[in-house]
Amino acid sequence: MGIAARSGHQNVAMLGIGAYRPQRLVTNDEVCEKLDSSDEWIFERSGIRNRRWISGNETARSMAAAAAERAIRNSGVDKEKIGALILATNSWKTKIPHGGPIVAFDIGLNGIPAYDVAAGCGGFGYGLGIAADTVRAGSAEYVLVVGVETMSVVMEPTDRNTAFIFGDGAGAVVVGPSDENGISPTVWGSDGENAEAIGQNWDIPEYMDRAEQFQHKDPESEPVGRMFVTMQGPRVFRWAAITLPKALSTVLETSGVGIDDIEVFVPHQANARINELMKKNLGLADDIPMANDIENTGNTSAASIPLAMEEMLASGKAKGGQTALLLGFGAGLSYAGAVVTLPPAPTESSLD
Ligand code: UT7
Repeated sequence: MGIAARSGHQNVAMLGIGAYRPQRLVTNDEVCEKLDSSDEWIFERSGIRNRRWISGNETARSMAAAAAERAIRNSGVDKEKIGALILATNSWKTKIPHGGPIVAFDIGLNGIPAYDVAAGCGGFGYGLGIAADTVRAGSAEYVLVVGVETMSVVMEPTDRNTAFIFGDGAGAVVVGPSDENGISPTVWGSDGENAEAIGQNWDIPEYMDRAEQFQHKDPESEPVGRMFVTMQGPRVFRWAAITLPKALSTVLETSGVGIDDIEVFVPHQANARINELMKKNLGLADDIPMANDIENTGNTSAASIPLAMEEMLASGKAKGGQTALLLGFGAGLSYAGAVVTLPPAPTESSLD
């Protein structure tokens, strides 16, 4: 008796992209109604002028479904062929249940394997790598990767370290077989030694260390207040300056593509200054377009890379078929990068 094995398609690519941007545009001045800061400081230090925050009926659930449906329509792939969904998110409001199955249900794909990937702002890169390997292994033929965040609701509006940075939104891609390979092996890693550089104001593991008090329902142990994200910005900045250049050269080496072949650079939208430094240190020519979605969308964590790619493709700053360098990084601290062929420009875009 032998146990059956499966293999899929070695050449895979992003076949379509879709995104959803919340209706509400929030200026730096509006953020500064609560935050002790200024429009000038925020723009100078981060490159952010505006971000989008959910309002009305918008939720992580509605945005993820909208982006996913657009990505499927833009890819031209039959919805029924999608065999798995990966949801990259850090702000989905529950851990139980996780969001993937709910998004799959909302888009009419109830029943497919659907799960969440929590890898900080590097989450989309992790999801894309897992999706590519899933298609290569034959575990699904087409995989939907969705990044979604509602950071505005897990933020403390008076916290000078975070309140001006984060935004909300969703972006999605369909990954599937392709004549030529369009997704390199993922270069990914983590640094748990610096994990607390991006965290929460109170954390579940800490109170679970006192599990017995919880099991006996000791009211003293109940966490008070709401959870919000914390960040030691300069510490993350220093970590990024050391770790990311190495990660980027490993991405290029692993992909077999030279720096001169890179036509577009799409780094995570954490800080425009970090991105400019990375571009310069990498030796990318000045005229190579680099994503700057952060300026009007803010830092949308695990959604930032698909949102930034979509903005570049929809506005004509980048073209489908071009070779792009992607790099996500953030909480964990974690990172994930790859060289990819950009999907076709979206027929149905979030900028329309
Ligand atoms: O997406 C996840 C990954 N995250 C990142 O990659 C974030 C990386 N870090 C950053 O982007 C930057 O560290 C920030 C944009 C968060 C902060 O910029 P910074 O240049 O590192 O500022 P800083 O914290 O070193 O503060 C510089 C000065 C200080 O004043 P003094 O000591 O120079 O007088 C702060 O007190 O700016 C002051 N400051 C502020 N002023 C106005 C700090 N935060 C604020 C604020 N508004 N919000």
